[in-house]
Amino acid sequence: EDHFKNRDDLAGKKVLITAGPTREAFDPVRYLTNRSSGRMGYALAENAAERGAEVMLVSGPVAIEAPPKADLYPVESAAEMYDRVMELKERADIIIMCAAVADYAPANCAVHKMKKQESMTVELVKTKDILAELGREKKAFLAGFAAETQNLEQYAKDKLVRKNLDMIIANDVSAPEIGFDSSYNAVSIYKKNGETLHLPKDTKRKLAEKILTEIRNSI
Ligand code: CTP
Ligand code: CA
Repeated sequence: EDHFKNRDDLAGKKVLITAGPTREAFDPVRYLTNRSSGRMGYALAENAAERGAEVMLVSGPVAIEAPPKADLYPVESAAEMYDRVMELKERADIIIMCAAVADYAPANCAVHKMKKQESMTVELVKTKDILAELGREKKAFLAGFAAETQNLEQYAKDKLVRKNLDMIIANDVSAPEIGFDSSYNAVSIYKKNGETLHLPKDTKRKLAEKILTEIRNSI
């Protein structure tokens, strides 16, 4: 059966996967976040575990169950995700940054709930780029995701080079019925060696299988 054809081909590999959104609080009841269900990252974690890998899953808040065979490290903010990834990265042979990390966080978080006013201004500061930091001192096979609404190929390839990645998996988040809250996705894979692979619409589970096979064949 197709599902089991890659059984144990990742045995002995340690795979660090990030998934889901991050939450950036500006008072005790309010936060900024990104759209992400966590499904793509969780599908990668599940497939890697099924293939015998030891999986570390660093996840922002999501509404889905973690694969039982993965070690789950829950985080909330981009800063927490950064710290956890930096702590776990030394152990990893493969790192896949699938999380929708917030690019900005409020400069300050109020201790008490803020009372509503006619308008308000929240100062935002850029978060640390986890993936770019991993690319600076690269020890593991490093894969990133790129979520784009236009110029997919160009922006994704820019990120591949700029962040010193081995692979980038690009998805068009403006395409209808795939991506975000869907069980389906469609991606293009760009590799450091110049190879390109287009994976048409399929379930996130199937795509996870194909992405991990590409990674397996690249290490
Ligand atoms: N990423 C990260 N840390 C951040 C922001 C993004 O590790 N603070 C990672 C994401 O997990 C993803 C990759 O970088 O694997 C690309 O994310 P994306 O949002 O597409 O790109 P950015 O570099 O943030 O650029 P922009 O949002 O302007 O397109
Ligand atoms: Ca971003």
